[in-house]
Amino acid sequence: MTQTLLELIDTRVSAALAAAGCEGAAAIVQPAARPEFGDYQANGVMAAAKARKMNPRELAQSVIDKLDLAGIASKVDIAGPGFINITLSPEFLAERANTALSRADLAVPHPARQHVVVDYSSPNLAKEMHVGHLRSTIIGDAIARVLRFLGHDVIAQNHVGDWGTQFGMLTAYMIETSAAGDAELALSDLEGFYRNAKQRFDEDPAFAEKSREYVVKLQGGDTEVNALWRRFLDVSLHHCEAVYERLGVGLTRADVRGESAYNDDLPVVVADLQAKGLAVESDGAQVVFLEEFKNKEGQPQAYIVRKQDGGYLYATTDLAAVRYRVGTLHADRVLYVVDARQGLHFQQLFTVCRKAGYASDAVQLQHVGFGVMLGDDGKPFKTRSGGTVKLADLLVEADERAFALVSELNADLPEDERRKIAHAVGIGAVKYADLSKNRTSDYTFDWDTMLAMQGNTAPYLQYAYARISSVFRKAGQWDAAAAIVLNEPAERMLALELARFADTVHAVAREASPHFLCAYLYELAGQFMRFYETCPVLKSEGATQASRLQLCRLTANTLKTGLGLLGIDVLESM
Ligand code: ARG
Repeated sequence: MTQTLLELIDTRVSAALAAAGCEGAAAIVQPAARPEFGDYQANGVMAAAKARKMNPRELAQSVIDKLDLAGIASKVDIAGPGFINITLSPEFLAERANTALSRADLAVPHPARQHVVVDYSSPNLAKEMHVGHLRSTIIGDAIARVLRFLGHDVIAQNHVGDWGTQFGMLTAYMIETSAAGDAELALSDLEGFYRNAKQRFDEDPAFAEKSREYVVKLQGGDTEVNALWRRFLDVSLHHCEAVYERLGVGLTRADVRGESAYNDDLPVVVADLQAKGLAVESDGAQVVFLEEFKNKEGQPQAYIVRKQDGGYLYATTDLAAVRYRVGTLHADRVLYVVDARQGLHFQQLFTVCRKAGYASDAVQLQHVGFGVMLGDDGKPFKTRSGGTVKLADLLVEADERAFALVSELNADLPEDERRKIAHAVGIGAVKYADLSKNRTSDYTFDWDTMLAMQGNTAPYLQYAYARISSVFRKAGQWDAAAAIVLNEPAERMLALELARFADTVHAVAREASPHFLCAYLYELAGQFMRFYETCPVLKSEGATQASRLQLCRLTANTLKTGLGLLGIDVLESM
């Protein structure tokens, strides 16, 4: 298949619109909102008629007269002021299903191939990874998987915070702790290490002075301080990697390109911005004034690229990173999976990059923002005592809670089996709870909701998959080459839902919004349950049974592929 279902119908309706005298008019094809509107509705006729002062219903009729949906639709009619309702034929849907079944990639068509840089996870290495980085890691991983599935060349960039004044303090503290002989031990608790270093910094002026000295040494390339810094980063990255491993997120060292990597380029960037007349001096700092962004007083906002003291900023590093991503990595698209609160930073960054020519209009720069993770008290997620929740602890708890659930469902399974299942369920639940919400809104982290067996949750979908697997265990042998034939309405509805997978995946990639896929999988599982209730599978016979088993198989493949794109494993039994 070269086109998704929506693309196919859209192409045909657009052609009919053109043939009816509306060249270039948008067909605006959408899935129908209600069953009585058919399967798809084309809504473009009214606007096309209005723009050309035509009668919309008459135009709709002449579009239908010219519309070629032979072999695709079984019914096309006009509704209301000029909507075109399209019902797909069972033969056509069966053919799509048979094709999808024959292909490991479910015959999802690939869009034009792009180099896509996805900046995600990107924790600050001075401290231990905390829940704030969970969303970026999970959402970024899902987006990267979806883009790869569609054939894009995805380059993950873990833009870790590995540079800046904190590292002077931390390396100075490493010397102190190793003098006391317990640096390794102290570093095993990074959070505590940071806290203690900070305390020393605040309480002891001599230590603070030494920290500042170390920053200068680090930036000046001093061998000893650099070695300490590298050692610290290595330990901190190890902590991150343990979290990635637990989460099943494929980020590796090769994907790490931290802030420090851009260090040498920062003066070059500022000089370039000056030469282009974009950066100017203001109170001793170098600033790009942006007319596009007015502050409260109506003055253009200042995007500072070099501080008064000559130091560079997060903003400068991001400018250098865009140059690298576009210039060296040849990105056609760069996605920043970062907290929505950094929205203004990215808008300004992108504006400066366009003006400076670091990214032409052909390159898409997109901030994939997300909301805050909230506790059940509606405030940012914290431990009971008000501390930040360590990711590592949270993920251990996910396994524990899922183990209790799995043991309830299936007490007879041996413990190690239940542990394995629990890991997939626990991590799946944490990921799915995050991914199923529109990423831009804040979301409430709640163990009971995410581990519920009912509703739009990972365990519900994993269970749906396991149920289908059990059908195959009971069926014993089946004909893997049998054709799907759609006779019952519930069979046709299931096949229609299955045929919508490709459009869903394309939408996720376009909008960088994994929740479309979650909503789809939930809907698919629902359609499957309706099919399974009304159309006996194991109790049917012959070609009917073979066809129904194939529908089961395609549903299972689609659930597995879809959950896989979200980074969630399926289970043969649960
Ligand atoms: N380290 C930053 C933080 O923890 C996120 C970096 C995001 N990426 C970027 N290119 N600015 O907030």
